[in-house]
Amino acid sequence: MSSQRLKNQVAWISGAGQGIGEGIAELFAKEGAKVAVVEHEEKTGKAVADAINKAGGSAIFIRCDVTKEKDVKASIDQTVKKFGGLNSIVNNAGIAHVKLLHEYTEEEWDVLFGVNVKSIFFSTKHGVAHLKKNPQSYIVNIGSISSFVGQGGTPAYTTSKGAVLMLTKSIALDYSKEQVRCNCICPGITDTPMFRYHVNKTPDPAATLKKRLARVPLGRPLTPNDIAKAALYFSCEDSAGITGTSLVVDAGYLTAAEWG
Ligand SMILES: NC(=O)c1ccc[n+]([C@@H]2O[C@H](COP(=O)([O-])OP(=O)(O)OC[C@H]3O[C@@H](n4cnc5c(N)ncnc54)[C@H](O)[C@@H]3O)[C@@H](O)[C@H]2O)c1
Repeated sequence: MSSQRLKNQVAWISGAGQGIGEGIAELFAKEGAKVAVVEHEEKTGKAVADAINKAGGSAIFIRCDVTKEKDVKASIDQTVKKFGGLNSIVNNAGIAHVKLLHEYTEEEWDVLFGVNVKSIFFSTKHGVAHLKKNPQSYIVNIGSISSFVGQGGTPAYTTSKGAVLMLTKSIALDYSKEQVRCNCICPGITDTPMFRYHVNKTPDPAATLKKRLARVPLGRPLTPNDIAKAALYFSCEDSAGITGTSLVVDAGYLTAAEWG
């Protein structure tokens, strides 16, 4: 049974058509939030919203490319119009490339930063006036363990996730007077379509998976629900008093320089 921690709240969640975003949308709906499933893939986004509604929750799918300011503004306006306000923003949409800097085109770099970083600027710019109307409100950004440590072969991703962490602090400071709290969740290896896609591109996916999990102290990948529980914590008054910080949810990955 859910505790209905988000009863009467309205949440805007980007990249909610699959993976971590889907997990967050499902958990928020179970906890009583009305959820905007904000996604550029119509098929997956609609399926997630339909599943929530079928299970007795309340959701709408909004088609939105988070790299486009007018899409983001329209998606926030539509959320407010449909549900009557906005209590929380979860900036989850993200992409990763595996390539070296000299292999990048300028356009590829810009697209990655558009999804992973600029989208947070857009949703905050257009969402904060609505958030400020509540006595408390929440912005949750999804960073990564790559917000803290380097990772070979992903220079743009790692740099973008470092930026997410610092942007979190700026947002937290600049809107603190209005009690808009902004925090960052930094997941480790999480079993999502993104993770599977990159593992399956390697010559021996089973061996790659085994090798990657051998580096994880708890010995398992995180689930989207593991990350969603942290997002829930930062999107209600269970985390009252916390802003501008990050929570690493990584099954122990960053704890060890070496182990075992
Ligand atoms: N899976 C992991 O191991 C892991 C680890 C650390 C951080 N993360 C972060 O978690 C977040 C979610 O990752 P995931 O693993 O669930 O990825 P995923 O690829 O499985 O899901 C991401 C979702 O974002 C959507 N999206 C991508 N570009 C978009 C755009 N321009 N506009 C709107 N939606 C868009 C995709 O369509 C997809 O539904 C990302 O920010 C990612 O960097 C993931």
